[in-house]
Formats: sequence, structure tokens, C-alpha cells
Amino acid sequence: MAHQRDVPIRAQRDVPLRAQRDVPLRAQRDVPLRAQRDVLNDELLDCAVSLARQAGELIRRGQPQAGRGVAVKSTPTDVVTELDLASERLLVGELTRRRPGDAVLGEEGAAREGTTGVRWVLDPIDGTVNYLYGLPWYAVSVAAEVDGVVDVGVVFCPETAELFRAVRGGGAWLGPRRLQCSAESTLGQALVSTGFGYDAARRREQAAVAAALLPRIRDLRRLGSAALDLCQLAAGRVDAHYERGLSYWDHAAGALIAAEAGATVGGLRGAPAGTDCLVAAGPALFRTLRAALEELIPA
Ligand code: IPD
Repeated sequence: MAHQRDVPIRAQRDVPLRAQRDVPLRAQRDVPLRAQRDVLNDELLDCAVSLARQAGELIRRGQPQAGRGVAVKSTPTDVVTELDLASERLLVGELTRRRPGDAVLGEEGAAREGTTGVRWVLDPIDGTVNYLYGLPWYAVSVAAEVDGVVDVGVVFCPETAELFRAVRGGGAWLGPRRLQCSAESTLGQALVSTGFGYDAARRREQAAVAAALLPRIRDLRRLGSAALDLCQLAAGRVDAHYERGLSYWDHAAGALIAAEAGATVGGLRGAPAGTDCLVAAGPALFRTLRAALEELIPA
């Protein structure tokens, strides 16, 4: 009995100890971290949805007066309305109330350091020119970075009442519908959206690229809001989006939504998506579109 007790008990003690040290302990450490991140991301998503809806309602109600108090920014065609500023004030005010320790970066100048590792990236009206003219394609874009990575993205179009949302790893959603980008893989069959900057010289280059690409694709769309373009891609309503010269707040939320719907999002020649270029499409189309753009846009 004593022998039986000694040997098996040591063995039992040894096995679980090794096992705990090697695998289960790592797993146990990971679970709470993942769970913490999930809880944080859920909180950030709730906050982002609430912010986008409130700001969206503000700008929708203000649209009939959009032409009042218009100022220009980088060029005479790059406009900012009083409602862009009011929308950003609302977003920042709500964040100050709800999450005072978070950092903030906004298109209209909001910039605040934080202490929590969370940073909000805000576009209070993406598609300002559409907004000014009464075209319905404008949106509020709210993204939340955690430790420098966008984990949450919400894009709300107040005129269609469509709210697109994504949490990293949790898919992209439009209401109850999980979004999946199109499976189109042939460039010649692809409906591609793009956009143009406000600077005339840059537009000349963008127009040359678009003119060269147009005969090689199904057709081109220029809707006027990059955030919404990326959500249309997520919803399968266009097959691809590419654009040069975007600012981070234009694409921070939309790029996550597109990626969570299965799109590859990147830049040219292996670079990440950014101001130089953003290309987004299902994986196969991404490769052919990026190759076509690399031919047309010198390094
Ligand atoms: C613009 C829109 C547009 C894109 C421009 C952006 P804004 O953002 O996203 O679609 O083509 O490059 O600047 O100025 O309306 O916030």
C-alpha cells in the first residue's frame, strides 16, 4: 500500500505540475487577458455606437443650414462647415464625460493625450462636400484604438440610418446582418470605388490613374465618403476601393469594417494602408488591383 501510494502520488503530482507549467498556465494567463480585452472592446463599441448616433442626429438635423458659416481648409474646395465643428465638439464632449482618460484625435483639430491606452479617432462628417450639397452620402466615423491598434470601428450614415460596426476578430455587422465582402476575383468584372483629394496637382495624378484603370474594370464609382466606400465594400455593394491621400480619420473605422468582412486592406508594394495609398478588396482581387495600381503609380 505504502509503495502504491508513494509512486502514483509523486507521478500524479509531477504530471499536473509539468502540464500546468507548460501549457495550462499559459492558457490560464491568456484567458483573462482575452476576456479583459473582450470586455473593454464591448464597452468601446457601445460608446462608439452611442457617439456616432448622437453626432449623426445632430448633423442630419443641421443639414438644411449646412451652407451657413462654411470655411476652407487646405484648398478653396476643402471645406469645413459649422456642423463639422459642432459634431466634433459633441463627440469630444461625450468622450470627456464617459471616458476622460482616453486620448482623442479628430479631423477638425481635436487632439488629447490619454492615460488608458485607448485613443479615439474621429471624423465628425466624412463626405463634407456631399453634406454641403445635400447629397445623402455622408457619415460620422468613430474608431477606437487599443495600444495603437484599431479594435473598434463604427460608421453611421444618418440619411440612410445605416450603422456599420466591427470589433477586431468579431466580424463586421450592419444591424443583425453579418457582412461579407464580394468574392469577385476578376479585375475586368470588378466594380471599384475611389476618391479624389482637394489639391489640384494631386487630382491630376489621381485622374490619370483612374483613366488608365477604367478600361480594365467593370466601372468606377466616386461616392464622396471614404468611410462609407469601405462599408459598401464590406457589404458587397462594390468589389474594391482604392484611394491615395486619405487621412487616418477617413479610413480608421471603415478599414476595420472592411477587413472584418473578409477584405484585404493594404498599401502598395507591401506597405500598410495609409496616406500614400489604400487598397481594399477580397484577397484575390486585392492582389490583381494592387498589381495594376503599382504599374500605374511610380514608387
Ligand atoms: C473626404 C472623403 C472623400 C475622400 C477625400 C476625403 P472629408 O473626407 O472621405 O471621399 O475622397 O479624400 O478627404 O473631407 O469629407 O472628411
